[in-house]
Amino acid sequence: MSLQRLDKIIASQGKYSRNDVRRLVRNGEIAVNGKAVSDSGMKVDPESDIINVCGENFGYSEYVYIMLNKPEGVVSASRSPGEKTVVDLVPDELRRSGLFPAGRLDKDTTGFVLITDDGAFAHDILSPKKHIEKTYIAVLDRPIGDAELEKFRTGVTLADGYECLPAQITPLTDDGLTVEIKLREGKYHQIKRMTAACGSHVNKLRRVSMGSLELDSSLAEGECRLISAEELAKIKRS
Ligand code: URA
Repeated sequence: MSLQRLDKIIASQGKYSRNDVRRLVRNGEIAVNGKAVSDSGMKVDPESDIINVCGENFGYSEYVYIMLNKPEGVVSASRSPGEKTVVDLVPDELRRSGLFPAGRLDKDTTGFVLITDDGAFAHDILSPKKHIEKTYIAVLDRPIGDAELEKFRTGVTLADGYECLPAQITPLTDDGLTVEIKLREGKYHQIKRMTAACGSHVNKLRRVSMGSLELDSSLAEGECRLISAEELAKIKRS
């Protein structure tokens, strides 16, 4: 791997910010290949050089996987001139070049967005063949009738004639206005178009899980955190 700044490498892994790295270097708590570091900007190869932070071997991973609780009004993109994007919400200590959202939520949809720099992983989880299940909570303007619920489960036909794969829908409230929907495909505005085909409009939409990995309930809207290797497996396995 190419040489990179030590502070950038350490900060890219999420636990320490660049300021933390500078402080730790001043305190003599960072070593590379057994020698204490005096310059936090020194160039190292994260794969072959042995980095030690506070007496522990520093585990470097080539890619990063971030769980974001997306607020309304933020665009699912890496860049969008004049608009705030999900990548803009990634704090400095997790930020690295090449981050993008693996799959999109509409600007007015909230909830779980996975941000990564691992193109192969994103391709894998988004490919139509392997499309992982995603769970949403939708608040509708009117309840979906029993016949339409059944259509949902066998495959709704959208206004443009597209036949959706069977999806799961479960009313969560007695008035039938709040429903849980599980989808295995990700067409543009899919839930809004599926519910429209059943005569209901989506007032609010929130993604609460990807595969069997749930959105961390301790994340406030706009907050994000790293996804662990075990959690990542929960998405891949589904
Ligand atoms: N379906 C939609 O209609 N919008 C989303 O953001 C996600 C799924």
